[in-house]
Amino acid sequence: MKKIFLGGLLAPLLISCSAEQKVDYSTRTMSPVPAPTTVEAREAAQANAGGVKKEAAVFVAEAAPESSPALVAQGRILYESNCISCHNKNPLEKGSIGPAQANTPWEVVKVKIVTGRYPEALPPGYVPARTTKAMRAFPKLEKDLPALWAYIQSFK
Ligand code: HEC
Repeated sequence: MKKIFLGGLLAPLLISCSAEQKVDYSTRTMSPVPAPTTVEAREAAQANAGGVKKEAAVFVAEAAPESSPALVAQGRILYESNCISCHNKNPLEKGSIGPAQANTPWEVVKVKIVTGRYPEALPPGYVPARTTKAMRAFPKLEKDLPALWAYIQSFK
């Protein structure tokens, strides 16, 4: 008699408990704050969070790679297949989107190609042609920097 009474009391309680444990997936996210997707947004988020404090970058001069006819020929193929959608066929002239690269020093060219950005520490006296951040990065071209440099310089 008692058992039946208890069972009758517990059953709805158990049912309501298991109902409460149901996960509402509509409110679930992987992280409470969505991860910033762009480099800029990530850097801004880091700075806001008081995270990694950036040290002031110091410019270090570097010897530009030597040129050779083979490098110039290789650079031409790379330049014409990767750069002229924005830059001029003649790197010393302004292109459809990209500026001329006549006076861009080696230390800038190499960082610009690999990261799409101007280096933090610029060579003394050098002023970037633009303040925009429209160029894409070509990390895969890192090994080909001497060829691209040789090709650009061959126009001088
Ligand atoms: C999507 C278009 C685009 C492509 C593709 C592109 N660039 Fe650029 N580049 C730009 C723009 C726009 C700038 C000006 C700064 C900026 O907005 O990033 C620039 C700036 C530069 C500069 C700095 C010039 C200066 O002194 O201010 C160099 C060097 C350069 N590009 C080299 C290259 C090379 C080499 C390639 C090919 C491997 C290339 N770019 C591909 C758009 C492009």
